[in-house]
Amino acid sequence: MEVIIRETENDAAQLTADLIANALIEKPELVLGLATGRTMEGLYARLAQKHAESGLDFSKGTTFNLDEYIGLPPENPNSYRTYMNNHLFNKINIDLANTFLPNGTAPDLDKECAGYEAKIAEHGGIDLQLLGIGSTGHIGFNEPLSALGSRTRCKALTPGTIAQNSPLFDNPEDMPKRAITMGVGTILDSKRCIMLVTGAAKADIVAKAVEGPLTSMISASALQLHPRATVIVDEAAAAKLENRGYYDWIFQNEPEWAPYR
Ligand code: GLP
Repeated sequence: MEVIIRETENDAAQLTADLIANALIEKPELVLGLATGRTMEGLYARLAQKHAESGLDFSKGTTFNLDEYIGLPPENPNSYRTYMNNHLFNKINIDLANTFLPNGTAPDLDKECAGYEAKIAEHGGIDLQLLGIGSTGHIGFNEPLSALGSRTRCKALTPGTIAQNSPLFDNPEDMPKRAITMGVGTILDSKRCIMLVTGAAKADIVAKAVEGPLTSMISASALQLHPRATVIVDEAAAAKLENRGYYDWIFQNEPEWAPYR
């Protein structure tokens, strides 16, 4: 795992956008795993800007989102499909037919989950998986006690997650209590993971995920098992990291990071 600390939220989003853009330039058929949430909004705005200003080409790319609420049809304003269309897909030249999210209104949800896994496999797996972290330490919607080998499935959301996300609904009561999410094992199978975390409210949980023990109570700690995981944080989210001097030293000395210093 690498931890890269940038000064501001904007700098952290910019570095993440640069890494994604470079991956896409290197492999135009990139299979990109995507996340939702407020943290991703600035990042998606930057990717859209790269498309508009420098012609970053998404036309051959494929995307798979981590999760979707159960019971919300795609056209619901609070669905993650709507979020993705509004924040990214409608602003870049991706073919919408190559953008996948689980269908939270599928008649047979178990079949939907198995089909989602099969579709990822059909595309050769995920090249780069983007992640945020929830206040419970979840990645995707892998709430505490999610098995470290779990695959795409239905999960009940914790009261903490419902409290975090329900203010985004016009009527907070309308927030579904369950979601389909890629499993921790699904995420760990991706070739590269980048977790973007910003803001003081995430400082405690990101320190636990990065420096604490590997535990299913904090599914983001599973990234410690991944051969190529990068955690990008701003100063506010880095505040509780005990070994930040070491992380900065790595950033200054690893040749791979030279173009970004
Ligand atoms: C939701 C998503 C997660 C995301 C989290 C954090 O719960 N399922 O993938 O990481 O929100 O959201 P925010 O960036 O709004 O803090």
